[in-house]
Amino acid sequence: MNRNGSIFDTTAAGFERHRSLPNEVVEAIRPAIRAAVHLPDHAYVLDLGAGTGRMSRSFIAAGDFYLGVDSSFAMLREFSDRPEIRQAKSYLLAQVEGRCLPFANAAFDLVLLMQVLSGAGNWREMLEETRRVLRPGGTIAVGHTVSSESGMDAQLKRQLAAILEEMQVPWHKPRESRQKALGWLESVAVRHVHREAGSWKVMTSADEFMSRRRTGARFAALPGAVQEQALERLHRWAEAEFGSIGSKLEEQRSFELDIFEF
Ligand SMILES: C[S@@+](CC[C@H](N)C(=O)[O-])C[C@H]1O[C@@H](n2cnc3c(N)ncnc32)[C@H](O)[C@@H]1O
Repeated sequence: MNRNGSIFDTTAAGFERHRSLPNEVVEAIRPAIRAAVHLPDHAYVLDLGAGTGRMSRSFIAAGDFYLGVDSSFAMLREFSDRPEIRQAKSYLLAQVEGRCLPFANAAFDLVLLMQVLSGAGNWREMLEETRRVLRPGGTIAVGHTVSSESGMDAQLKRQLAAILEEMQVPWHKPRESRQKALGWLESVAVRHVHREAGSWKVMTSADEFMSRRRTGARFAALPGAVQEQALERLHRWAEAEFGSIGSKLEEQRSFELDIFEF
C-alpha cells in the first residue's frame, strides 16, 4: 500500500459530508445504466476512482462482481470502513493508478467513472487503459453532478477561478477537461446515451461553498497562504454580490450519466 501521494488523501474523511448525494440518486445509477445498454445479469464491474465507495452498494447488493479501485489510500480506507462493506462478501478493493491498470485485456463488462474525469488531468491515458480492460461490447459509464449555471455555486466557482487566474496560480479547468474527455469517448464509442439519474434541490450559501472548497482535493493542495488570500477575496466578492456570505439560496442539482457502448 502506498499511503502517500494522492491529493485526495487529506480530504477523504470529510468527502461525503461536503459532497453529499441523495441516496435515491446513488441507487438510481445502476438501473439507469442497465436500462440504456445490455449487460449480463451479474456483470464484471470496475469502479475506477471508487473513492469512499458510495456507488458500490447497489452493484454489490445486486450480485455484480464489483471491483473498486482508487489511487488514494485514505479514500479506500473510508470505503472499507463502510458498515455495509464490512458485511458484504463479494467485492474487491485495490489501490491502483488509473493510468496503469493491473488487469487483463477485456476483463470487465462495465467500467464506472463517477465524478473522476473532471479532476483527472491525465484523462486520455486513463480512458485508453479503461478501453483496454473493457470487453468488446462493454460499457463505460461517466457520471457527474451538474449545478445550474446561474446558481450560486457555479457563480462562486467562476469567481474563484478568475481570482486564482489574477493571482497567477495555475488552476485546472474541470469542465473543459470533462468535455474533452467525453468528446474523445464519443469519437471512439459505438453508441452514446445521455441519462439523468436524478435531480434534487439544495439550500446553499457562499459560506458553505468556501468551507467545501477548503476540503476540495485540488484547492487543499495549494499553499496555505494562497488558499487564504483567494478565499478572502472570494469572501469580499460574495458579500457584495449576495449581501452576506450566510445568505441561503435554493438551487437545483442533477446527476448526469454519459453511457458509452463499445
Ligand atoms: C471526486 S472523487 C469521486 C469518488 C466516487 N467515484 C464518487 O463518486 O463518490 C474522485 C476519486 O477519483 C480518484 N482518482 C482520481 N484520479 C485517479 C487516478 N488517476 N487513478 C485512480 N484514482 C483516481 C481520487 O482519488 C478520488 O477518490
